[in-house]
Amino acid sequence: MGKTAAITGAASGIGQAAARRLLEAGWTVFGLDVAQGRLDAVARDFADHRDRFKPIVCDVADATRVVAAFAEIGLVSPLLNALVCCAGVLRSGLMEAMPVEEFDRVFNVNARGTWLCAREALPLLRRAAVPEDPSRIVLLSSVAALRPKIVSGAYAASKAAVSQLCRVMAAEWAPSGVLVNALAPGTVDTPMVQAMADPSVGKGYRPSGVSPVGRIAQADDVVDVMMFLLSDGARYVTGTTIPVDGGTQAAFIPPGSR
Ligand SMILES: NC(=O)c1ccc[n+]([C@@H]2O[C@H](COP(=O)([O-])OP(=O)(O)OC[C@H]3O[C@@H](n4cnc5c(N)ncnc54)[C@H](O)[C@@H]3O)[C@@H](O)[C@H]2O)c1
Repeated sequence: MGKTAAITGAASGIGQAAARRLLEAGWTVFGLDVAQGRLDAVARDFADHRDRFKPIVCDVADATRVVAAFAEIGLVSPLLNALVCCAGVLRSGLMEAMPVEEFDRVFNVNARGTWLCAREALPLLRRAAVPEDPSRIVLLSSVAALRPKIVSGAYAASKAAVSQLCRVMAAEWAPSGVLVNALAPGTVDTPMVQAMADPSVGKGYRPSGVSPVGRIAQADDVVDVMMFLLSDGARYVTGTTIPVDGGTQAAFIPPGSR
């Protein structure tokens, strides 16, 4: 029988690519996103898998809505093999100038929203877990959690929080068969980063640095590592944040040295 996953942020970028890959691999996917129009468009795009892609409009920053969304998932599918938390927002700005509302939104979506979804998915994940095939949670942290940069302080702090939540949830939940890991991408070519090219949105945003590999990532570069974390090969991996950054934060490259 095929497996079942819930993916937050499924209407764009990495979450959309993750949904596509899991559908192609035969999974049933509950796709959660706050953007109803884009979620509908993605559902149309997944027409070949229509019966296995189940869109659910949900703002992960809204605790009541998150509880309701996972209750809805539980009614359709009492077992969940995986949760992938891609929902996230990026706001740039100097620490001395960032509005409180923007700081709060970044934390409410990226850190609190991630925890809320993991907490509500947990009973369904535990029910699906068996010793030879633990259930999986994959969180989206960022290279910013490992090496922050100026003008992205709130975002970096929220992603550091995601990586710490990952470690603690992994230790608390491993005995019940749920593995928790995070991915830390460098700059990925998705609508989140593309939006930053607009100066009215970007407010001084700069990419995370030059990748020694020589290009920025595509969403599938990140999804390939996610697929490993969901595979049998990762059955003994938990509590880690894995950089997927083409070596961006591996070593400082002094300007002008190449
Ligand atoms: N793109 C990058 O360079 C990059 C780098 C490192 C980490 N990340 C992280 O990867 C994840 C996916 O990013 P992406 O690049 O695919 O971005 P994206 O903007 O393309 O997709 C994010 C999705 O999350 C949804 N979303 C936002 N707020 C939400 C909320 N409150 N509730 C539910 N859904 C919400 C958006 O509607 C969107 O569909 C994010 O957590 C992001 O922080 C991205």
